[in-house]
Amino acid sequence: MKNIDSYTHVRGESIYLDDIPLQAGTLFAAALDSPIAHGVIKKLDYTEAEKTEGIVRIFTYKDIPGKNQIGSIIPDEELFAETNVHFSGMPVALIVGISPEVLRIALKKIILEIEQLHPITDPREAQKKGELIMQPRTFRLGDVASAWKNCEYIIEGISEINGQEHLYIETQGAYAIPQESGALRVYSSTQGLTAVQSTIASVLNISMSNVEVDTTRLGGGFGGKEDQATAWAVLCSLAAYHLKRPVKYSLHRMEDMRMTGKRHPYSADFKIGLNKDLKILAFEATFYQNAGASADLSPAVMERTLFHCTNTYFIPNVTATAYSCKTNLPPNTAFRGFGGPQGMFVIEAAIAKAAECINVHAAEIQHKNLLKTGDEFPYGQLAESEAHECWKKADTLFHFEQMQKDIDDFNIQNKLTKKGMAIMPICFGISFTKTLLNQARSLVHVYIDGSIGVSTAAVEMGQGVNTKILQVAATIFSVPAERVKIFSTNTYRITNTSPTAASTAADLNGKATEIACNEILKRLKQVAAEELKVNATDIEIKDEYVWIGGKKTVLNWNNLVLLTYQKRVNLSELAHYTPQQIHFDATKEKGHPFTYHVYGTAAITATIDCLRGTYEIDAVKVVHDFGQSMNKMVDWGQCEGGIVQGIGWMTMEEIFYDTNGKLRSNALSTYKVPDIYSTPKEITIHPLETKKENLAIFQSKAVGEPPLMYGIGAYFALRNAIKAFNPTVNIPIDAPMTPEKVLMNLYDKINK
Ligand code: MTE
Ligand code: HPA
Ligand code: MOS
Repeated sequence: MKNIDSYTHVRGESIYLDDIPLQAGTLFAAALDSPIAHGVIKKLDYTEAEKTEGIVRIFTYKDIPGKNQIGSIIPDEELFAETNVHFSGMPVALIVGISPEVLRIALKKIILEIEQLHPITDPREAQKKGELIMQPRTFRLGDVASAWKNCEYIIEGISEINGQEHLYIETQGAYAIPQESGALRVYSSTQGLTAVQSTIASVLNISMSNVEVDTTRLGGGFGGKEDQATAWAVLCSLAAYHLKRPVKYSLHRMEDMRMTGKRHPYSADFKIGLNKDLKILAFEATFYQNAGASADLSPAVMERTLFHCTNTYFIPNVTATAYSCKTNLPPNTAFRGFGGPQGMFVIEAAIAKAAECINVHAAEIQHKNLLKTGDEFPYGQLAESEAHECWKKADTLFHFEQMQKDIDDFNIQNKLTKKGMAIMPICFGISFTKTLLNQARSLVHVYIDGSIGVSTAAVEMGQGVNTKILQVAATIFSVPAERVKIFSTNTYRITNTSPTAASTAADLNGKATEIACNEILKRLKQVAAEELKVNATDIEIKDEYVWIGGKKTVLNWNNLVLLTYQKRVNLSELAHYTPQQIHFDATKEKGHPFTYHVYGTAAITATIDCLRGTYEIDAVKVVHDFGQSMNKMVDWGQCEGGIVQGIGWMTMEEIFYDTNGKLRSNALSTYKVPDIYSTPKEITIHPLETKKENLAIFQSKAVGEPPLMYGIGAYFALRNAIKAFNPTVNIPIDAPMTPEKVLMNLYDKINK
């Protein structure tokens, strides 16, 4: 089955925020944001700006009827700066006028004077100065201190990982429309409708029941709209509330890039110890997360870094500590993988460095230490591991040794182009790490014409969740897909939504939909049984007909639905689903936080041009654990997209803040993302094809985030290629591996 959005997507008929027809009287808004990363506001004078023709009003924190506060996990984030600014891009005022163009003219007339304070951009500096978002956390397994003495090899190092711009095609935005009696309808490009709803309510000091948030789909979110869609929706709502007119704000790309947070950069120290058989006996890591100016989702992201700090390996002795460091950058936020990739990068870096020191291939160490079923993660959960199966199948299909040999041969024969290869096995936990978020509701209606409508909390952002939920309903009722419509996500229909995040949307909302459909199906069967005078247990509903004992009856779907209505039996159901087996005790840092894990193994090869430092990623060959894929086209698409996004993060995407905390890579001319020419020439994806009970919807497994982490292999493939040219170079572990860095490393020492 195709992604149900493909038809309207290719025709340009899909409705995004900017496609919503404007109501008469709609006004436009834009934020005035701080040009300074850290400072004290000395003067804000907008009298001239407000006099500009077409400007209706300018708002500041003084116009907020409720709280000037949008922080979700920790209330540490002002909507508008009051006395101090904490990052360059922080909103100070909101300007509202009759057209987006007039706003740009008037914005220039606002006088904003800020006395600059020292900005911190480096997380280690923040940690030294005690500038922390929260108390550090430590995950422990075994006893690292006493394990070192049993190690033959002990390797230490430092790892730097940069952030990543989400670059969703649709920028952030919202459109707020006043309703009667002080209520608001807000269209928001958000992954988390309830966060938007509750924050609007608390900023405006109105009840959540007066705020209807509605989302048809996003032009991409990637985590960037889990928490950070809220500000724009609240700003529009504030203006709509005061002016009693519809207000829309759709950010320009450069506004979006400079005002919103990104994937967290991390600096880390690591120490790894192996015995002479290359078993990893001990691993110690300290993570310095660059959180930006307020908490946003950083505490949860940091937690996932710790959860994934041993990736897919069993290490008996682990101590991992993480600091969430407060800096004067826009608050960093969720991004596909949610801190997991940053954790996994460090263990992979440690293994790569160990391999270089011991003079073996990293793959040897990786393979020797893969998790087995029953092995304990540092957080106490026992693995149900597919790590060996994935690796074995990948090796059988792709012949790792032969691949390496081909590369070695190529490197002997070629002087100025070199190839490198890396294996990247992954393991990613599925569930929100915050246990309570693992719940969902689904509202299913069957209309008297036999058509079906489904509402859930899931937000479609290109990942195909609506297609999967539709498949659930169509499968359970055994009707063609055309019968089922997935409605927009809306807080008046579905309450208290968890964000569409953590790759869980299809699982949680799909399961709730399954329950709701089964409930209605039970009633339909009861009605059919009464009508046909048999037991309900003998009834089967299949291919739009009622069947008894494998025989089709004359009673079809349409007539059965009508009959059910005529008998005054409920054709709607609101179901609730929550996975039962998960728990986590943060005081002990132990528990069973994940419903299950997703595994996979990738082999990545790259070729570098040793004169220019430019490179190509040649191939990414993967065996991925999809469980029983519900939709191959959607899942393979998620894999390919995730891989390319991961490679982008690890290779060419370079976020650059200057020492004043100003974003210099602030447009698509200076921030490079993979385009069609830089995607690998070959992406091969094979499914592991296990048919195990895995607690996911229809025995599929979540697929949204895990494949991104295969991209980490690109970094190490490039590293290996550089070493083929310059064997004695000591390459700092510092991602992304941009062509500039490749070039410097190729000639490092040769120049000295
Ligand atoms: N795929 C597309 N096309 N667009 C997106 O924004 N977001 C990713 C992933 N795949 C995203 C995507 C992220 S960060 C997550 S958490 C999951 O989709 C969320 O959706 P799911 O729970 O349905 O997998
Ligand atoms: N992933 C994504 N978003 C989240 C999570 C998570 O684990 N926890 C809280 N928000
Ligand atoms: Mo995804 S980072 O959990 O939105």
